[in-house]
Amino acid sequence: MVEIRTPITESEWEAYYDLRFRVLREPLNQPRGSEKNEGDQTGIHFALFENNNILAIARLDLTEDNVAQVRFVAVEFNLQNQGYGKKIMLATEAKSKELGVSRIILHARDYAVDFYLNLGYRLIEPSYKLFDVLQHFLMDKKVN
Ligand SMILES: CC(C)(COP(=O)(O)OP(=O)(O)OC[C@H]1O[C@@H](n2cnc3c(N)ncnc32)[C@H](O)[C@@H]1OP(=O)(O)O)[C@@H](O)C(=O)NCCC(=O)NCCS
Repeated sequence: MVEIRTPITESEWEAYYDLRFRVLREPLNQPRGSEKNEGDQTGIHFALFENNNILAIARLDLTEDNVAQVRFVAVEFNLQNQGYGKKIMLATEAKSKELGVSRIILHARDYAVDFYLNLGYRLIEPSYKLFDVLQHFLMDKKVN
């Protein structure tokens, strides 16, 4: 059974941050701990569970009026390109609609831009380089 919800137990939170670390930070040679930031206190956390395992994650931050930002989207390595990323993104979109958000923004890694284009996001402009190496692109999607 596939279920998307916020982690609850300590071990679920551990699995959630572990996936974030392994997919988004370790490949960039960043230390454990670098996968967390202050926004984790206020953000809305999404985890896709299948048979009690977390396979995909995302965080939704409410930024300014009616705008939300999706961050830390990741799918377990050996399970990419099987639709899990799309499922977790659609969950962030449904939640945004429910909260009256009119526009979602995100900063996509260069190699993920096409994934977001496929989901109806619009490419706006190059934004920052993460750790001085990984170019990101600002993208957005109107949702309400
Ligand atoms: C990028 C990522 C989140 C995509 O999730 P995924 O589960 O692999 O992608 P899905 O299987 O849900 O793909 C959904 C659609 O996008 C397409 N797609 C997925 N990744 C793509 C890519 N890098 N380029 C082009 N198209 C892509 C798929 O073909 C699929 O198309 P379809 O709906 O027409 O069949 C995932 O591969 C990942 O975690 N990558 C490493 C970490 C990362 O880059 N995170 C994003 C940081 S901004």
